[in-house]
Amino acid sequence: MHNPCRICGGTVKGSIDLGRHPRGNAFPRPGETADEFFYRLVVGMCDVCTMVQLLEDIPQEVRYHDEYPYHASGSAIHRRHFEEIAQGFLDTELTGPDPFAVEIGSNDGVMLARIARAGVRHLGVEPSRQVAEMSRAKGVRVLPEFFDEGTAERIRAEHGPADVMFGANVIAHISHLASVLRGAALLLARTGVFVFEEPYLGSVVEKTAFDILYDEHSFVFSVRAIQAAAERFGLELVDARPMEIHGGSMRYTLAPAGARPVSPRVGELLEKEAAQGLGEHATLEEFARRARTVRDDLTALVRDLHAQGKRIVGYGAPAKITTVTNYCGIGPDLIPFVCDSTPSKQGRLVAGTHIPVRAPEAFSADHPDYALLFAWNHAEEIMAKEREFAERGGRWILYVPDVHIV
Ligand code: TYD
Ligand code: ZN
Repeated sequence: MHNPCRICGGTVKGSIDLGRHPRGNAFPRPGETADEFFYRLVVGMCDVCTMVQLLEDIPQEVRYHDEYPYHASGSAIHRRHFEEIAQGFLDTELTGPDPFAVEIGSNDGVMLARIARAGVRHLGVEPSRQVAEMSRAKGVRVLPEFFDEGTAERIRAEHGPADVMFGANVIAHISHLASVLRGAALLLARTGVFVFEEPYLGSVVEKTAFDILYDEHSFVFSVRAIQAAAERFGLELVDARPMEIHGGSMRYTLAPAGARPVSPRVGELLEKEAAQGLGEHATLEEFARRARTVRDDLTALVRDLHAQGKRIVGYGAPAKITTVTNYCGIGPDLIPFVCDSTPSKQGRLVAGTHIPVRAPEAFSADHPDYALLFAWNHAEEIMAKEREFAERGGRWILYVPDVHIV
């Protein structure tokens, strides 16, 4: 399978083929599973600009519908993370006269609420109705639309240039990334910055975190690919910082070309990426082989425990669960349910495999023998919360970076 690159028109060769999958965040209701949407989950790298991307494109209206269930403030650690980001902007980039901040994919307003409370002009751009409503309740101003070049032009005409543009776990979701970058170049003040943090290819490869691949992740960014993409649209990558959040992310800072000095961190990270082989097809092919090993090991373990009469329940229903359970063929016969703290996911099913999602109380009321941790990027927070489970002899199954029991 080959496709043209969404950024530069080069050739993208599909190196990782995970087969047929439904949408990661579909979470159908029981009885609504007859007409599930499936696509082929194939990921590859552009042989010119090295951008890693999905080969098949799922229309964004199908993904970010009114009932889009992901809530950015679902984790206490994430809430603190976004409040710190907001405070950082307030202390540095938003200190001039009447500054203006724009967030792309402002979700439930977890970041902008802090900026709104400081009385700073801001605008969230968020097309999913329910989460947009949640942010309005926090005093956040929202434009219920998808961000692109046209939106950027209208925002600039109405509000003037932006001192800060921000996006977290959203920029890599936008298949029309070229239009977003053109929009950023249009909307940013000469002294402004466009900061975004997204799952990092280096961490995904290092951890064999194949579950980060699903329909919403149109791209998996690297420093090298972002630097090249920025350059095409009159922007410049001036800083990049690795973060632990979401199992390994990178925070990129773009500025209008030539407007700011470039941090030495950029060069250091580029060297590290070259050593890791991140720009090579062979690295993705090797990753695909390791993903198959994880699949075989996890399936064997779960089947074996099930055959021994052990009870296994899933913990956390992130979008990632859709990729893992569909790729491994793990359904409710092996895992009767998965618990998740997000109310809008409870009572629904994991797309494709139809494992029911229940409230965390279903887990604590009747501890299983094993808990398969799908929300592995929140392991610390969840294991601390569910200490009693382990104290009573319960064991956690993890599959990142390989299948193991703790
Ligand atoms: P997350 O990894 O943040 O997102 P993604 O869908 O992008 O992979 O999702 C974590 C999920 O885990 C989310 O549905 C909420 C759930 N969760 C719990 O059920 N309990 C918890 O204590 C935490 C921290 C998360
Ligand atoms: Zn390309």
